[in-house]
Amino acid sequence: MRMEILATKTAVKEKVHPLKREGSSVGLVPTMGALHEGHLSLVRKARQENAILVVSLFVNPTQFNDADDLQNYPRPREDDLQKLRKHEVDYVFAPEVDEMYPEPGGDQRRFNFHPLDSVMEGKYRKGHFNGVAQIVSKLFETIQPHRAYFGLKDFQQLVIIRKLVSIMGYDIQIIPCPIVREPDGLAMSSRNLLLSSKERQVAPYISQVLFKAKELKDRYSPKALIAWVKEEISREASLRLEYFDIVDDQELKRIENWSEPTNKVGCIAVYLGRIRLIDAIIFD
Ligand code: PAJ
Repeated sequence: MRMEILATKTAVKEKVHPLKREGSSVGLVPTMGALHEGHLSLVRKARQENAILVVSLFVNPTQFNDADDLQNYPRPREDDLQKLRKHEVDYVFAPEVDEMYPEPGGDQRRFNFHPLDSVMEGKYRKGHFNGVAQIVSKLFETIQPHRAYFGLKDFQQLVIIRKLVSIMGYDIQIIPCPIVREPDGLAMSSRNLLLSSKERQVAPYISQVLFKAKELKDRYSPKALIAWVKEEISREASLRLEYFDIVDDQELKRIENWSEPTNKVGCIAVYLGRIRLIDAIIFD
């Protein structure tokens, strides 16, 4: 099937919904574009698991709390489309802002994910997850996929999307996908394009500290390991740590003891110059 680019919700409903009614499984990969191997790993998994594959490309203004960040966000549209064509995507949903936010005065909906949105990213990026929930709920309701694919790199986002599905009662399976890294360990991110060559050389240090922390896990309590990571990050003068925390994968509560019967994930946000990078490490 030749890839089609759809710009309106009506077009999605006309094209995709009949296929769903005929029994085809529909997979969705939501993205903001500037696609790299991290995104493409989601696309490949979704391609394997669904008869119809939709990828959305939309830089969602409501999830940015920094006007510069929104403006500087890379938008290499033609490159993105070419990559998606190569990956045999059926439909690209690439709406304009007005199409997704036609409400006068903007989307007034407020989601309450407490306590999931009060910690880590939620603490430092006020309103960010509300914006994510606004757009993802609109994408889910427009496309109505059977499955939607999200990366573990944005670990807190994944946990909040699961919560969104349960609050809203969507009949959508959320599929988590592993973090894809550069050969030097740096987690792939569209924002890596914004690093200077000097910053790019420093950036892998963040993941190296996380990998080492995983190795040291049995020698330290969670609290002591958090302190160790903070100390290691502070050794590199160009890095400014915003947070590092080790939390469970359901409630995002700080782990006190390694023996707790939960999956444990370390989440970090670091400024490198003006660029904010996040990463995560799965402890088990
Ligand atoms: P974006 O940052 O474009 O990421 C789209 C998806 O790709 C997310 O699920 C993200 O976790 C995943 N991803 C990004 N880098 C990855 C990597 N290195 N390895 C694995 N997966 C990776 O996340 C968003 O967009 C937006 O918030 C969105 C959900 C599209 C809503 O606007």
